[in-house]
Amino acid sequence: MSANHPIYVTQPYLPPLQEFIPYLEEIWANKTLTNGGPFHQQLEQALCDYLGVRHLSLFTNGTVALVTALQALRIAGEVITTPYSFVATAHSLLWNGLKPVFVDIDPHTLNLDPSKIEAAITPQTTAILPVHVYGNPCDMQAIQEIAARHGLKVIYDAAHAFGVREAAGSVLAHGDLSVLSFHATKVFNTFEGGAIVSPDAKTKERVDHLKNFGFVDEVTVIEPGINGKMSEVNAAFGLLQLKHVDKALQLRKQIDETYRARFAGTAGLRCLAFDAAAQTNYSYFPILVGPEFPIDREALHHKLRGHGIHARRYFFPLISDFPMYRGLPSANPENLPVASRAAQQVLCLPIYPAMTAEQVESVVHAVLA
Ligand SMILES: Cc1ncc(COP(=O)(O)O)c(C=O)c1O
Repeated sequence: MSANHPIYVTQPYLPPLQEFIPYLEEIWANKTLTNGGPFHQQLEQALCDYLGVRHLSLFTNGTVALVTALQALRIAGEVITTPYSFVATAHSLLWNGLKPVFVDIDPHTLNLDPSKIEAAITPQTTAILPVHVYGNPCDMQAIQEIAARHGLKVIYDAAHAFGVREAAGSVLAHGDLSVLSFHATKVFNTFEGGAIVSPDAKTKERVDHLKNFGFVDEVTVIEPGINGKMSEVNAAFGLLQLKHVDKALQLRKQIDETYRARFAGTAGLRCLAFDAAAQTNYSYFPILVGPEFPIDREALHHKLRGHGIHARRYFFPLISDFPMYRGLPSANPENLPVASRAAQQVLCLPIYPAMTAEQVESVVHAVLA
């Protein structure tokens, strides 16, 4: 594969354009563009059915949904979270005037390590904000036990976890709230978009008020809400995407299986294992480049770039290394040895439904050559 035909880490899934036209015609006919129109209502119900949850509120994007989720539960003070995520996770805390407290991750899942959480709890701690990184489920039972013992709320950043299920059902059914992202790079996209999954109708109602400026009726505003609403165009597109999503997940699965088979037994190269009991979504393909591999992660990243392959260092730098966080005591790399090592070793390889077998082979070849 030459640098003239680059392979990016992902490529958004887009259904055939002509399939979208009837949806647009409907919007043009009824002139409802936003504010909980018919497509918005249909998509909320369709996603509840598909994901196996009961209460879901659509949002304009995942970040506004995270900010709103923290508002909805009136979180204050300190929140325990992971440094190994996309920066929006911790930014949602700063936007709420909350103090992030970073806790190290588990070396196997790269998710928040429950055994390290309790040492970080202080009288100011009110919540835990874990992330299902790459769609790999957190140890939700352990997190729930800690939260119950200390009276803490749990909000899952489930931006990567669309469609992920465990034996007991959707991972989104855990915690006090779960937040999804439907950004272009995600396995299910609405161009931009997101959602909050609530455990009951009352919580969903509160979330719905907050995402609409705090309005409860034409003249009554009960909270300083935000504009977090998803438009009808995005919602219509989501309905169409949903028809294609199983096929898209199946195509991702094949690529995942090929990579695992081709890299098996390669010294120093670890493919992140996903929870065997879970139904995963193949949203990312992270490898960890260890000391036994002939070159380090930076050199491999550079080498792939030379082949026109745009692998990405998700997640490097750690959130705790960005300027607005690194002064926090919990951001000290000595507090985060596992996350610091993972950030130095990880590389996400290209994976997306339209990726051809030849493209997958060229990535494998470039990694192993
Ligand atoms: C872990 C995580 N949290 C939050 C977000 C923010 O979502 P959005 O881009 O929809 O605002 C993203 C990705 O974009 C993410 O990867």
